[in-house]
Amino acid sequence: MKALVTGAAGFVGRHLVRRLKETGAEVIAVDIRPVGGAIRVDVTDGRSLSALMMKERPEAVFHLAAHISAPESVVDPIKYFHNNAIGTAVALEAARQADVSLFIYISSLAVYGEPTVLPITEASPVAPVNPYGASKLMGEEAVKVYNATYGLHYLIFRPSNIYGIGQNPEYAGVIAAFVKAVSEGRRPIIYGDGLQTRDFIDVKDVAELLAIAGTKRKVIDQTFNVSSGISVNIRELLGTVTSAAKKGQLIPIYKPKRPGDIRRSEVSNQRAREAFNWSPRYRLSEEIHELLKWQADER
Ligand SMILES: NC(=O)c1ccc[n+]([C@@H]2O[C@H](COP(=O)([O-])OP(=O)(O)OC[C@H]3O[C@@H](n4cnc5c(N)ncnc54)[C@H](O)[C@@H]3O)[C@@H](O)[C@H]2O)c1
Repeated sequence: MKALVTGAAGFVGRHLVRRLKETGAEVIAVDIRPVGGAIRVDVTDGRSLSALMMKERPEAVFHLAAHISAPESVVDPIKYFHNNAIGTAVALEAARQADVSLFIYISSLAVYGEPTVLPITEASPVAPVNPYGASKLMGEEAVKVYNATYGLHYLIFRPSNIYGIGQNPEYAGVIAAFVKAVSEGRRPIIYGDGLQTRDFIDVKDVAELLAIAGTKRKVIDQTFNVSSGISVNIRELLGTVTSAAKKGQLIPIYKPKRPGDIRRSEVSNQRAREAFNWSPRYRLSEEIHELLKWQADER
């Protein structure tokens, strides 16, 4: 398979590119930041992206390129709508022109907003509570319109909170932020009371599912949650990190809840399990040791 991955220099992108290559795929890596071998293309620049796709003619496009900070999206919504919604429409148009057979769009659990019923399934209502979630949902709508209008086949994945090696602690991922703070002996910051729940999925499990989805062509034109199926609250999460780090108790600094943060998250992954014969293999309680080791090596 020949695959083009946008956002390939990012956290999830790098893991996905590696996994695709391991499965024997030829990968065209694209990112606005030309690091790790990625070709520099801005996905909102239709002419450049189209020229690249026409030249390379990938069978599948994995569209990951996006701005990903929900709090930042509250401060600068247009940046998010432009990059994430327009960027997805531009990527779809380039894929259509190049006769791509499958467009795999990495959406987000953020499209659901604050759930009214748990667990969240793919049938749950979508109601984003921040511009980031809305921009990802607009991308989904564009994907579906390209399918209905032009017959471009798609898969949409809505991952919960992804963690793993290589995640940037500055603007994403509470696990990355906790690991960095605890490793440096600093008090971690908790926004809100810390009783809000989240589902954390290992990036290796996400990359594995996406790689399977790119090759198993019987399942198309559907939407899937991607989650561990396990819900933990932020205080429990901090306990897991501090006990694994064996650095004693660090009293967190509590700051006000951020606008656009949701309260509860519990996410069914049943659909993806059944469709792709996939299940999450990595457990946070074990992977946390790898993350702490990686963080120590980074310093
Ligand atoms: N990390 C998570 O917890 C999480 C959860 C759910 C969904 N997602 C989705 O997964 C995808 C990847 O997220 P990530 O965590 O790897 O983020 P990341 O910020 O590490 O990677 C995103 C990459 O996209 C690139 N990019 C941004 N705008 C671009 C543009 N206009 N043109 C080309 N490249 C551009 C960035 O340079 C970056 O390398 C995103 O679509 C995000 O919405 C992430």
